[in-house]
Amino acid sequence: MPRPVDVVILAAGKGTRMKSALPKVLQRLAGRPLLAHVLGMAQGLSARRTVVVTGHGAEAVEAALPALADGQPWQAVRQEPQRGTGHAVQQAMPLLADDGVTLVLSGDVPLTHPDTLAALLAAQRAGGPDALALLTVDLADPHGYGRVVRDESGAVRAIVEEKDASDAQRRITEVYSGILAAPTARLRAWLARLDDRNAQGEFYLTDVVRHAVADGVPVVAHRIDDALQVAGVNSPAQLAALERAHQHRVAQTLMAQGVRLADPARLDVRGELVCGQDVEIDVNCVFEGRVVLGDGVRVGANCVIAHATVDAGAVIEPFTHIDGAGAGVVVGTQARVGPFARLRPGAWLGPEVHIGNFVEVKNATLAAGAKANHLAYLGDATVGERVNYGAGSITANYDGARKHRTVIEADVHVGSNCVLVAPVTLGAGGTVGAGSTVTKDTPAGALTVVRAKAVTVPNWRRPTKSAD
Ligand code: UD1
Ligand code: MG
Repeated sequence: MPRPVDVVILAAGKGTRMKSALPKVLQRLAGRPLLAHVLGMAQGLSARRTVVVTGHGAEAVEAALPALADGQPWQAVRQEPQRGTGHAVQQAMPLLADDGVTLVLSGDVPLTHPDTLAALLAAQRAGGPDALALLTVDLADPHGYGRVVRDESGAVRAIVEEKDASDAQRRITEVYSGILAAPTARLRAWLARLDDRNAQGEFYLTDVVRHAVADGVPVVAHRIDDALQVAGVNSPAQLAALERAHQHRVAQTLMAQGVRLADPARLDVRGELVCGQDVEIDVNCVFEGRVVLGDGVRVGANCVIAHATVDAGAVIEPFTHIDGAGAGVVVGTQARVGPFARLRPGAWLGPEVHIGNFVEVKNATLAAGAKANHLAYLGDATVGERVNYGAGSITANYDGARKHRTVIEADVHVGSNCVLVAPVTLGAGGTVGAGSTVTKDTPAGALTVVRAKAVTVPNWRRPTKSAD
């Protein structure tokens, strides 16, 4: 039986180089705070316990934690003041039992694959019961990272930080990722021996390597060649570079599945994008949360689509904004939405529905073949099959206190510029004349016209402005 894994996430550092008032671990990558990515790794490993070390911006980080942890148990400990990565792990040790293995993750290293962490833990076990395992990587440009110093036999002797390194050490390209695993009892003893006699006057976690070596304990390096998985975020430039590298990878995966991207460099997936066969996505589209695009769906340029399902054969024309956060959005098969349309939570469009430019739909179901082609609002409405909803028409669903429903039965034609004052039901097959304000239910098949009587004043002169 492998020992249980306890995870410590370091999230107390100031992130000085970000030059931001927001704590570094709350900066976003692919739409989610860095810390959410790292918590996801702990979840992927089914960690027994996850301890987040907070310090700089602790209130904000701790307030964000329940949402970021996505249901997994966690505890926060404060590190005050922040005296280095080793000092940070020391704060977590009272919460960790000696029978486990501690896996240290950095809150600013967001893209490590769970398989890589599993392999690191396996390397730790393979190294023997006391072994210290480091995740390392070769970087063409190792600047800023701790270097892995090995002896002539290739055994790891130490990690030396950039600021403490000699010129020869700076030429080493193998760097420490910020991620290590060690038996908790051993780690506790090594941490107790740290000091701050170094260029930054900090207690470095990386110095546990020297103590392990001094104790004659095996130090194993699990070396990977995928730099993205261990890239740390220390500056806005690094954050942007990591975002682009991550998005590039997402785009490659989608294209490998057959998705046709007009330009893989102009796509942003900030969540999970699931695509059927023959999906085409034009440039500058942003997808957030879980979005499902069915077979043959086409998405035009400059669309933002969040928390939505678009069924087979539907077309989303350029500049459309869809946000289903909460109630979801469904676009039915062969439906056509946009350009410049807005679908809000609870917009459920049936097959072959058409939603045109400057039409907003919220919490409304539209049955097959219904159309609202121009400049309209449909909120809190139930719209029947083949309804034609004219330009400039709106549902007045809110009386200032409560929202009411509008029901438009099948085959109704609503002319231009109508106001449907909810609650109201328009009977099947009826017609509402242009410019009507409808406050009462209309019978099936009827023509309803509600207009103010025209007033004409002959020879009327518009008042002119007086000189004073
Ligand atoms: C650290 C490593 C370095 C490694 C690099 C990988 C040390 C001493 N150095 O350097 O070898 O190559 O990560 O990305 O460990 N933190 C705290 N409390 C503190 C200081 C930092 O919780 O007192 C947290 C930070 O919030 C961050 C993580 O620890 O999440 C790493 O700190 P950072 O300052 O970014 O260390 P690096 O200089 O990147
Ligand atoms: Mg860092």
